Amino acid sequence: VTLLIKTDIERGNAWADALTANYPELKTVNWPYKGDPAKIDYALVWQPPRGELKRYPNLKAIFSVGAGVDHLASDPDLPEGVPVVRMVEPGLTAGMSEYVVLAVLNHHRFILDYAAQRREKVWAEIPQLPAEARQVGVLGLGVLGRDALETLKPFGFRLAGWSRSPKSITGVTCFHGSGGLGEFLAGSDILVCLLPLTAETTGILDKETFAKLPAGAAVINVGRGGQLVEEDLLAALDSGHLSGATLDVFQKEPLPKKHPFWTHPRVFMTPHIASMTVPESAVRAVVANIQRLEAGEALQHVVDLKRGY
Ligand SMILES: NC(=O)c1ccc[n+]([C@@H]2O[C@H](COP(=O)([O-])OP(=O)(O)OC[C@H]3O[C@@H](n4cnc5c(N)ncnc54)[C@H](OP(=O)(O)O)[C@@H]3O)[C@@H](O)[C@H]2O)c1
Repeated sequence: VTLLIKTDIERGNAWADALTANYPELKTVNWPYKGDPAKIDYALVWQPPRGELKRYPNLKAIFSVGAGVDHLASDPDLPEGVPVVRMVEPGLTAGMSEYVVLAVLNHHRFILDYAAQRREKVWAEIPQLPAEARQVGVLGLGVLGRDALETLKPFGFRLAGWSRSPKSITGVTCFHGSGGLGEFLAGSDILVCLLPLTAETTGILDKETFAKLPAGAAVINVGRGGQLVEEDLLAALDSGHLSGATLDVFQKEPLPKKHPFWTHPRVFMTPHIASMTVPESAVRAVVANIQRLEAGEALQHVVDLKRGY
């Protein structure tokens, strides 16, 4: 069984080592691959060039290195009928929940304000609010959104979530569909976006959405840059309607040097690192899935390409 790896070179080697340790019969080859394309059974990829995966006539499954599959779903030349599997692995989930807690607490505890005060050498207290005075609303109740909400539970925030289909989660007020979005937003003092990038979610964080949030709300985007209308966010921050934003993903990455986000005092940003797949734990998920398919069983976490996630 041969698997083609296309990630960055350093991480590609970490993957190859971890895969072979977990599945000695598996042969791994790195992209770019100059051998016979017919020999490739599986591909484990991050942002492959468009049309690249069509070159392998015997491909049985495509594994995304990341949880998001927009890098694959947007390829018009993806080979037809080959299942695409998204990444679900404990290291990635834990990393995202850590980041969401960090960002929520930053806004809750006025860290942007204290950073501004520090720059001005101002020693002043801002009255602290109890966690139950705020509602954290998470857009997207998938693997990552649900775990982030579970991880937030001990802090005592009121919790809400929004998804496409109805959900029932203990301790979380659940909303769904376009009909439920307005009420969900109206209660969200801290809004976290953990949606996949699809035609429906593109530009969802726009001026209409921001206008529905309570005055002083904060926005955390850890989904995809394409979900945020950046100029609408800047306008909502500059008008004071939003108190701050934590951004990990951007329309254009790396963020251009002249972009106002770099220096905006109400923005905390990171370079798309909210969570990374951990090869050592992720290989167990990939190997188990390959073994399932080789044994004639169904793959887990197959993406619905029509839906886009
Ligand atoms: N910044 C980073 O470092 C980083 C790292 C990993 C992942 N991510 C992003 O996080 C995303 C979520 O990952 P995941 O594993 O949690 O995905 P997932 O398990 O597929 O969950 C997606 C959730 O979004 C909801 N959803 C999708 N389209 C919707 C729509 N049009 N309206 C309302 N809800 C919608 C789904 O609703 P249903 O439950 O009703 O289907 C589901 O609850 C990824 O796609 C990726 O873009 C970012």
